[in-house]
Amino acid sequence: MNKTSDLETFSDESNTDETLLNTRIGTIIDGSLSKGLTVKLDSGEVPGSMIEQIAVGRYVVVQGLTNTRFFCIVTDVALAHNNPYIETNPPDTNDKYSIEIYRSTLSYGIVNIAPMLVLEKNDKKPKPVKTIPTHFSIVSQANEEDVTQIFGKADENHFYLGNPLEMDQVPINVNLDRFIERSSGVFGKSGTGKSFITRTLLSGIVKSRKASCLIFDMHNDYGWGIQNEHGQTYKGLQQLFDSNHINVITLDKKTSLARGDRADGELYISYDAIEPEDIAMLAGVLALSDVQVNALYFLRRRLGKNWFKKLLSDQEQDQNELDEFIEQGDLIKSSLGAIQRKFELFRNMKFLKEHVSDDFIEILFQKLNSGTSIVLEFGTYDNSLAAYMFVANYLTRRIHERYVSAKNKAFGKRGEDPNPLMIVIEEAHKFLTPELSQHTIFGIIARELRKYNVTLLVVDQRPSGIDDEVMSQIGTRVTCLLDNESDIRAVFSGVSGAGALREVLARLDTQQQALIMGHAVPMPVVIRTREYGPKLYAEINQQTSSSQTAKHKAEQAKTDLFG
Ligand SMILES: Nc1ncnc2c1ncn2[C@@H]1O[C@H](COP(=O)(O)OP(=O)(O)OP(=O)(O)O)[C@@H](O)[C@H]1O
Ligand SMILES: [Mg+2]
Repeated sequence: MNKTSDLETFSDESNTDETLLNTRIGTIIDGSLSKGLTVKLDSGEVPGSMIEQIAVGRYVVVQGLTNTRFFCIVTDVALAHNNPYIETNPPDTNDKYSIEIYRSTLSYGIVNIAPMLVLEKNDKKPKPVKTIPTHFSIVSQANEEDVTQIFGKADENHFYLGNPLEMDQVPINVNLDRFIERSSGVFGKSGTGKSFITRTLLSGIVKSRKASCLIFDMHNDYGWGIQNEHGQTYKGLQQLFDSNHINVITLDKKTSLARGDRADGELYISYDAIEPEDIAMLAGVLALSDVQVNALYFLRRRLGKNWFKKLLSDQEQDQNELDEFIEQGDLIKSSLGAIQRKFELFRNMKFLKEHVSDDFIEILFQKLNSGTSIVLEFGTYDNSLAAYMFVANYLTRRIHERYVSAKNKAFGKRGEDPNPLMIVIEEAHKFLTPELSQHTIFGIIARELRKYNVTLLVVDQRPSGIDDEVMSQIGTRVTCLLDNESDIRAVFSGVSGAGALREVLARLDTQQQALIMGHAVPMPVVIRTREYGPKLYAEINQQTSSSQTAKHKAEQAKTDLFG
């Protein structure tokens, strides 16, 4: 007897305390931890209207019986009724009176919700769910306080990236330390806002100085100003930050100048620095066969560092030297011919020069290590996948090597830990196919996690093309709309409870909405990406100017090495 009254008192306090709850939407009637919970919706102000206000991706809160609060995400919406008769004999649509009676008594809405986090009595921080709320627990819409409790307030480490659905005033903040701690990805089909969300994230990271970014800007999206399809212009990173924070280096000075961009420097690659490994990765793009790739290694071995120059050379003497290998039976004539034909494309890459005196790798490494992020603009090469992959691979291999050696020195207490580096690549699936990712630098970086302070930010519209093993190492996944089944499967690979979120992903708006899950957020969340525009510029401006007085490592690298 006593026990019952205890329970009544307890449940009275916890389960029906409407002050804890916001807008109530229904009660739990069924479910499991693995498959999610079923909520019977209240009928709403106008009977039956509630269901039309609940969209997949929204946050709801369930008040448990033992003073626990479960944070959940809506994953599906359905109609239900408790009388099979109404399916065969629905009321006459003109009979408003009967319809209202049916809606308030026989039919109701159902939503499925996936429980993600739970806040237990006396705890300040929510934990991952291991159990579920009991039958008839009250479900309500999450409010600002709930969201802040989960995502924290915006501060040096929490960057405001967007707002949850239907909660325009509530910021969702991404944990930047965690974002850069492991490789991350931005996915979504073309035109969904990948570049905009990436630029927003980059502005947060550059501002925070938590990592230097080396951005391979294939489509000239990040460095200087951009114009969208409606002619609206947006600031690039260089316009948001001073040259201590961002340097734009161009591969094509002419185009940069013609567009009125202010490049901080140019980059050239010397013929004699090129190694067969720099080209082997392009085998797919150049259609080089295995025999041809092996021939490159042979030529390098026999001709030394001039191998590349000799392959491109018009000099008779060089050609004779190559022909000798054919005569000696070391090379097949057709292979050499094919290689030389395919190498013709390198002649159009004006950033390749026979001789380059500056040590650009050293310059880039110094800048990155001292906290300055670099945007590498491709200018007129924006449509050349070969140029993009070649340069990204060439630089990343060498910069990574420098990081490995700096890190090893730091281990041996002979130097400082290198500044964290995040390498940003677009069209990532071209670099990270199952065949390539095993032995190329990008696969290595993704797999070695953060061992040498280098991580990747991959931006891609075809995540299904990325090696599964690499995908499973992607810590934070920011995913805009995807509609291809295999792409959807790929972004969820290795994510527990992913099944429930598929519907959420498939229903995102075609622009400016994203599902964020993984390392940098405590629970998956659908956001409307914050507007990339004057408000964000002002915020960045304000914060970077106030941090100018702070002592930055970058100050040491003030001497403009590219001058
Ligand atoms: N956060 C945002 N603020 C303002 N506009 C945005 C935002 N996100 C997306 N947009 C709008 O959506 C359009 C497409 O975005 P974006 O160029 O980033 O797509 P994308 O996914 O990178 O496309 P693609 O695959 O073709 O490169 C932009 O031109 C812009 O008009
Ligand atoms: Mg883009």
